[in-house]
Amino acid sequence: MRPPGTRVPSIVQTVRFLRDPGRLLEGMHRRHGPVFALRFLGFPPEVFVTTIELAEKVYGLDASGGRAGELRRRFLEPVVGKNSLLCLDHDPWQRHRKVLTPPLRARAIASYADEIAEIAIAEVDRIPLGRPVALRDHMQAVTLEVMLRLVFGIRDGAHLERLRVLLPALMEVGGSNVLMMTPEGIRRRLETSRIARSLRFLPSTRFANVRDEVDALLFAEIERRRSEPAGEATDVLARLLDARDEAGEPLSDQELRDELITMLEAGHETTATGLAWTFERLLRNPGVLARLREEIETGESQEYLEATVKEALRSRPVIWDAPRLVDEPLDLGGHRVEPGWFAAPLIALIHRDPAHYPDPDAFRPERFLGEEAARSAKAWMPFGGGRRYCVGAQLALLEMRVILRETLLRLDLEAVEQAPERARMKHVTLVPARNATAVATLRKRVTVPPA
Ligand code: HEM
Repeated sequence: MRPPGTRVPSIVQTVRFLRDPGRLLEGMHRRHGPVFALRFLGFPPEVFVTTIELAEKVYGLDASGGRAGELRRRFLEPVVGKNSLLCLDHDPWQRHRKVLTPPLRARAIASYADEIAEIAIAEVDRIPLGRPVALRDHMQAVTLEVMLRLVFGIRDGAHLERLRVLLPALMEVGGSNVLMMTPEGIRRRLETSRIARSLRFLPSTRFANVRDEVDALLFAEIERRRSEPAGEATDVLARLLDARDEAGEPLSDQELRDELITMLEAGHETTATGLAWTFERLLRNPGVLARLREEIETGESQEYLEATVKEALRSRPVIWDAPRLVDEPLDLGGHRVEPGWFAAPLIALIHRDPAHYPDPDAFRPERFLGEEAARSAKAWMPFGGGRRYCVGAQLALLEMRVILRETLLRLDLEAVEQAPERARMKHVTLVPARNATAVATLRKRVTVPPA
């Protein structure tokens, strides 16, 4: 049986989705149950599942040819390059996954906490007091700096300054709808044509110029690092330079460049948005905020902080689905998914399943503590699942805990409007419509002991 869906043209489905993704997805779920299909303009049908059991079945495809890489390639390859973990499948994916995983494990990154705190404090000091500010913008500045210093390992002041401007521009222009909708062949021709490259207003030209400058800086950095002894360096690039694949081969310069941009693309805005939603939720749940502040200020435990971050990522997942391109006919709850279609756990609705999260609208970190924790953990998938589970999840969680803590120690925050912020689509993420707007006042001046 074909998965149920709507008969309206794909353009209407796409517009409805972009206008209010939550309303469309929840409406489809109410009408059709745990399996339903949508068609987005220019894409094959996407079949969504909303239960953990069906999600496991989709994630299970990773072992046998559910190609997550191929379907991301169209959006992401121009920015991240063709050696990116995001866009690879099969053996090349396995090779890169093996190299990228160890430097991003919890133990490998634990020592980053102090420098993340330092970066967060410097940015918190820049937040203007007494007037509305978009917290998401400040969180983006912090997570970009973490990427530059702890992942890319850039220490040169001039390079840092230039990349602080160029990298957000690369993400912005590279992720623009115009560029993403331009067929690959045309894009390539525009990039290689001297005439097109002289037309600076063209999105393809702006993108190629930014990318070329970023690449020149990154290749220079990689060359410098290869030629100097690593010494005490513990940043992710230092570890990738040391890494060897199964054949004993290191990553090439181009592969290193692509994976650095991959971590930026996948880990910079996502983590900032996760933080923005955490503030958005905390400011509308004063009881939770008070309990969290108490734990942070007594400094005795991190249990509630960890649970708060988990609950924020549950109730407002940054990424709402985790699609796979299906190779063979697939049965999902009695519905047949054809080869060439997408199948996707619908994270946003799985996180609202009352069987795992009673009263799903409530923002209650307590559901990740004590006896409830096991039931909650089972359906928690903000970082996807299967073998393509987010490789940077531990870094994201560490950043969120540290940045949240340092911010709350220093600032009192108040939402400008008590109504919850709606979610809007930005690229493939769901962000708070007003970017977590709040008014900050100084809570207490915390002096940082010298390093
Ligand atoms: C709150 C922040 C983050 C969220 C919500 C998030 C979420 C996700 C999700 C849902 C996926 C897809 C998993 C799947 O298809 O099953 C993913 C993949 C990925 N993420 Fe993250 N991520 C975050 C932060 C990061 C960070 C900090 C990094 C890097 C340092 C990173 C690097 C990646 C990469 C490289 C992949 C592709 C993995 C593969 O295909 O093998 N992410 N992430």
